[in-house]
Amino acid sequence: MRGKWIKVIPLEGFTEDRFTFEYDGEPIVVFKTEQGFFALLDECSHDDARLSGGVLVEPCQVQCPKHKALFDLKSGKNLSPPAFSPLKTFPVKIEGEYLWVLVDG
Ligand code: FES
Repeated sequence: MRGKWIKVIPLEGFTEDRFTFEYDGEPIVVFKTEQGFFALLDECSHDDARLSGGVLVEPCQVQCPKHKALFDLKSGKNLSPPAFSPLKTFPVKIEGEYLWVLVDG
């Protein structure tokens, strides 16, 4: 697998249902759900909006705060208009009580 695992946050510090950070100029959001942690590029594929400001929707989706497009958290797939392309996703793992994300590079 290409990329680099980075240690993002201790699990005990992940107190909300989302956490945002930047890596190499890219905004990334990690959502915590009952189905696990999911990391995505924090930029809607439709226009200029942060998914981290969106609403989590069952099962395992996020709704963009700007024009309400739905995306699948696991795959990044766009599920409703006006978004017609998927979001970039990043693999996540839990190791040593930390959340890790596999970023490019
Ligand atoms: S900016 Fe996200 S749906 Fe338009």
